[in-house]
Amino acid sequence: MKILITGASSGIGAEFARQYASLHVELILLARRKERLQNLQNELQSKCKTVTIISVDVTDFALLQEKIKVIGAVDLLILNAGISLGHTQNIPTIADFQNLYNVNVLANHAILEVLLPKLQVQKSGHIVFISSLSSLFTMPSAKVYASSKRALNAYAEGIRYKYAKDGLHVSILLPGFIKSELTDKNDFAMPFLLETQEGVQRMKKAIDKGKRFYAFPLRFYLIIRFMALLPSALRQRIVNYLH
Ligand SMILES: NC(=O)c1ccc[n+]([C@@H]2O[C@H](COP(=O)([O-])OP(=O)(O)OC[C@H]3O[C@@H](n4cnc5c(N)ncnc54)[C@H](OP(=O)(O)O)[C@@H]3O)[C@@H](O)[C@H]2O)c1
Repeated sequence: MKILITGASSGIGAEFARQYASLHVELILLARRKERLQNLQNELQSKCKTVTIISVDVTDFALLQEKIKVIGAVDLLILNAGISLGHTQNIPTIADFQNLYNVNVLANHAILEVLLPKLQVQKSGHIVFISSLSSLFTMPSAKVYASSKRALNAYAEGIRYKYAKDGLHVSILLPGFIKSELTDKNDFAMPFLLETQEGVQRMKKAIDKGKRFYAFPLRFYLIIRFMALLPSALRQRIVNYLH
């Protein structure tokens, strides 16, 4: 089984690599930080059939596509690389906004533009999009991040409908807060924060069961769904209170 994980140098991606490591698995780990990837490769290679690393900035679309062309079709693709701008009260710069969209949205298409034809020929493949609960409710301090993940949901849904007839399966995962370098930057109390291992275990279970949509932790998801049902003026008051 060939598995490509993007954003594998830390946090959720590195933990996915650890949890998927097994002797019948060919792991391909992609991120920028080569040393981190090499350390993970050293840690996992005795547990896997092969561990290959790809050190590339996903916003360099041409180079990214060149590297993806070489690996051919995969069985499981975990599109996990992502960034946030932190929770800032400032107006984001257009450069930061664009870079975030390049990583969180467009890079995934750069990969799929290359891989989808190969998966169509293979007539199978499981594509996992790591979105976020924040795609369902926009806190003003995370509007750029939330909007990118909402865009990702829409894109992923389209990929699912279009390629189902080719035997491709799409899972869209929406975690709440999970401990990682991304959340270590947050200086506020994160409700229902999960340890990395626990968060990834839950996602792996959902992937292995072939869940099309998995939002968790459940209590956090239900609160967000409930908030979305409230009249806009009431939601504004709640956001003012939380913000
Ligand atoms: N942690 C949470 O609470 C949470 C909640 C919901 C969703 N998510 C999503 O989960 C995913 C993983 O995040 P995380 O929490 O594990 O954060 P993280 O520890 O910061 O991991 C982010 C990964 O993305 C890679 N990456 C970032 N920019 C890149 C670039 N330009 N080119 C290549 N790789 C790049 C990083 O590797 P390099 O820096 O080495 O390139 C790193 O491996 C993200 O999509 C995030 O939005 C996280």
